[in-house]
Amino acid sequence: MPKLASLLESKLPANIVELLHAAGELAASGDAGTSEAYLVGGSVRDLVLGREPKDPDIVVTGNGPRFARALAEKIGGTVTSVSQFGTAIIDSPHGRVDVATARTETYSSPAALPDITPSTMDDDLQRRDFSVNAMAVSVLPGAWGDLLAPHRGFSDAARRRLRILHDASFQDDPTRILRAVRYEVRLGFSMAVDTAEALERDLPYLDRLSSARLLAELKKLLMEPKRADILRRAEALGIIGAISPALRVTESGLKAMEHFGTSAGEIDELLYVACLTSSLTGEEAEAVIARLQPDRDWQAVIRGAAAFRDVASLLESPDLLPSEIVELFARIPVPVIEFQRVAGPKTRQREHIEAFLRRHRDIRAETTGDELKAQGVPSGPVLGKLLLELKNARLDGRVSSREEELDLVRRRLPVLLGREANGGHAGGAGQGTRDQPAGAAVP
Ligand code: CTP
Repeated sequence: MPKLASLLESKLPANIVELLHAAGELAASGDAGTSEAYLVGGSVRDLVLGREPKDPDIVVTGNGPRFARALAEKIGGTVTSVSQFGTAIIDSPHGRVDVATARTETYSSPAALPDITPSTMDDDLQRRDFSVNAMAVSVLPGAWGDLLAPHRGFSDAARRRLRILHDASFQDDPTRILRAVRYEVRLGFSMAVDTAEALERDLPYLDRLSSARLLAELKKLLMEPKRADILRRAEALGIIGAISPALRVTESGLKAMEHFGTSAGEIDELLYVACLTSSLTGEEAEAVIARLQPDRDWQAVIRGAAAFRDVASLLESPDLLPSEIVELFARIPVPVIEFQRVAGPKTRQREHIEAFLRRHRDIRAETTGDELKAQGVPSGPVLGKLLLELKNARLDGRVSSREEELDLVRRRLPVLLGREANGGHAGGAGQGTRDQPAGAAVP
């Protein structure tokens, strides 16, 4: 078996190399109840492929959390979490490292979380998803860099081939279906024929995944730099429809993802959600939400495509006031508007969107609610209306200074208070229209 000693030293950051040496010495000393410690999984795969490995995972035989506590003490770190699966996380000046107990996994039913039993290193590699992820490198002082790849991971890496270790792998853990396309595209791999056949056959098992696990996997996918290509591949393999028949990827959604993906700066995950769900109807949006059960921000964005369609034709009006544009966009999440800026028609709608995103959405009145309260405006609906009127007057250029705002308050307050006293039915201009601006009703 090849030795990866020099790759370990050259590809891993120096602080992680030191940490691995410390782990190896601790295991060799026998002081932490184990004599074997390995770097495993994705970091080994990346080392073999000549890529920069990310978060290192260490596996020890015996008791991972016990080893993690001893290692944390040795390197001046702390164990921040211990899981029911015999894993622990160390945060240390050398960086973060995951430590796991070598284990076998059995699945009581397809897609269930696994039952685990501490076991040998060979068993631990046997339970993994793909051959290239089922490799380990010893960090013991006497065996530093020795590669353990009993499932032909090394030759699969050389052939850029993604291969499951046994026929029921996708059934045991259907998240592997999504992981497969993620790795294929990220690493420039192709699935082995048997693996691709098993994936296609086992697509219905995606239905058995909990919403939480499915959503977590989808989030990982959306964070990949090549997300659009991964989704294209997933669509071609029928994975998207198997997640939810209501979900589909569109070329305009993917193009927009590629556009955002190449922009500078950190991109909000929600922008990619907006791209992915840009063609959904209201009904489809509800079906996708029911399947994924995402948080409220995701839900709003998923519903946003249909909400945008409701106002799209109004956005073609030539003479919309800024306050009217802001009102039209009030219930549409910004990521959905950002998507439309990139993917929507280049008509007047686009001009209104640009104006909204560049200027209008940030415009506020100078006078605050607290200031109005200090001047005797009672909290409640009148205060809310007054603030909205001030903002709209600012947006439409009817006031441009604090003095003009206060003047507007002086004119409008008695009207609003009078209306309130009359049960809200007194006449007046409300928040103002083009023909009868706010304040026009004040004598
Ligand atoms: N693993 C698995 N089946 C899964 C998830 C993970 O067998 N459903 C194993 C693989 O051996 C994987 C390791 O656990 O390499 C660590 O998982 P994870 O951190 O998700 O993946 P990495 O391989 O580190 O890949 P990535 O580069 O995407 O972080």
